[in-house]
Amino acid sequence: MQGISKRFPGVIALNNVSLEVYPGEIVALVGENGAGKSTLMKTLGGIHQPDEGTIKINGETVTIQNVNDSMGLGIGFIHQELNVFPNLDVAANVFLGREPLSGGLLKLINRTKIEAQTDVLLKRLGVDVSPRTPLSELSIAQQQMVEIAKALSLNTRLLIMDEPTSSLTLAETTRLLQVVKDLRAQGVSIIYISHRLGEVTEIADRVVVLRDGANAGTLTREEITHDRMVTLMVGRELQHVHQAKEANANPNYFVVENLQTKRYPNQSVSFGVGKGEVLGVSGLIGAGRSEVAQALFGVEPALGGRILLGGEELHIKSSQDAIKHGICLIPEDRRHLGLVMDWTIQDNTTLATLTDYAKAGLIDFAAENKVAIEMSQKLRVKAPSVAAKVSQLSGGNQQKVVLAKWLLQKLKVIIFDEPTRGIDIGAKSEIYDLINQLAADGTAVIVISSDLEEILRISDRVAVMHEGKLTGILPRAECSEEAIMRFAVGSH
Ligand SMILES: Nc1ncnc2c1ncn2[C@@H]1O[C@H](COP(=O)(O)OP(=O)(O)OP(=O)(O)O)[C@@H](O)[C@H]1O
Ligand SMILES: [Mg+2]
Repeated sequence: MQGISKRFPGVIALNNVSLEVYPGEIVALVGENGAGKSTLMKTLGGIHQPDEGTIKINGETVTIQNVNDSMGLGIGFIHQELNVFPNLDVAANVFLGREPLSGGLLKLINRTKIEAQTDVLLKRLGVDVSPRTPLSELSIAQQQMVEIAKALSLNTRLLIMDEPTSSLTLAETTRLLQVVKDLRAQGVSIIYISHRLGEVTEIADRVVVLRDGANAGTLTREEITHDRMVTLMVGRELQHVHQAKEANANPNYFVVENLQTKRYPNQSVSFGVGKGEVLGVSGLIGAGRSEVAQALFGVEPALGGRILLGGEELHIKSSQDAIKHGICLIPEDRRHLGLVMDWTIQDNTTLATLTDYAKAGLIDFAAENKVAIEMSQKLRVKAPSVAAKVSQLSGGNQQKVVLAKWLLQKLKVIIFDEPTRGIDIGAKSEIYDLINQLAADGTAVIVISSDLEEILRISDRVAVMHEGKLTGILPRAECSEEAIMRFAVGSH
């Protein structure tokens, strides 16, 4: 790709960007939220037409007008947002739209053939599911593998993976990285987008950094280090500070006693969170952390146990009950939660706190605007202004707007489920500051995270779960990666 430029109204998404990939090479494309990574790949995938620039494959200039052109050139694209059909089974997803037909008058889809071919692809990827399983029954990681199988079935020479691991667990990530390496060994070229710099360090042959829509530098294999990538990405130094707090006086402000969830009816969980405390919740995926959060928020009410706030027992049968008591959950899957895609950043940011800007029954638009601008600046939302529609933001920037909305609420207990997934390294520290601020204002904060670095950085104490049980609660002084992992795998 040479000299690619792409403008959207009010935004120069790409400015004279160049990128090369060799056969059998893994190039990692990194940059902050809104740097232009997905847009650059979409010009390769036939979703956007570049305003300027040329694309060459094997030395020949090609035009990519649409997705079919791109696929025809051997380019496979696994998007930032999964693109599968949950009602269809694995084989149907892999061969959607180009099913081989059996002979005869009826031209029926040749199921035997697509199932057999799908099976071969799944085996190549080391995925142990039947081609007949509906996608809705698969984990996100498995669905991702189905997308990869689909790309491979198209004889892909160049595979684009836009944040493939942002929803995967540690074990699933390891598996996926192995698949990526195997593909490289088979001569497939890969463009790999990720905010997880550890992964990038592990697999990339070369790193290409974008900043504000332009090339910010390239690192060869020997030059790749976490710090060098960050410096090129943000163009400034980041400081790592942890405001370690004094051990919390009283963890009995928000108390959970013998909570039983539907997923693990034979286990029960008990813990307390202090006013102004940040309790980190660690554990492997499937440990039951999200289920506890959903029970506390009334999404999937608890089967048994007690929930107390300030000594008073709460009966939470629905999320309305939870909100009424000042408890809120920011779930993992933020895209389906309260972003009105057609609305502006400002309207989305202040949606839930609008009454704060009301005077004598009228909205004080200036005050509302000021708060929206403040939050957007704090979280480094990249957009022409707060009047931009959220549908036009990059993936990470949309997430920041959702967080901004919730961070503005005055709540007693706030539960974050994977708060910084897909969010770049600069904005992460801003989010940590805001979480600290919530705690300093007296909120009891629970942060569920699979990112150990994050847990260690923000938690006053860390609760660790394993298969529906709470296997340990570590005070700050005893928190370490090893200690947490030991509890996470279930040893005591
Ligand atoms: N369809 C669109 N209309 C208007 N602006 C857009 C559109 N798509 C992207 N942009 C803008 O282009 C810029 C680059 O966005 P892009 O999605 O490429 O970022 P990214 O590097 O993939 O970020 P992230 O890490 O958050 O996914 C952003 O400022 C974004 O708001
Ligand atoms: Mg993106």
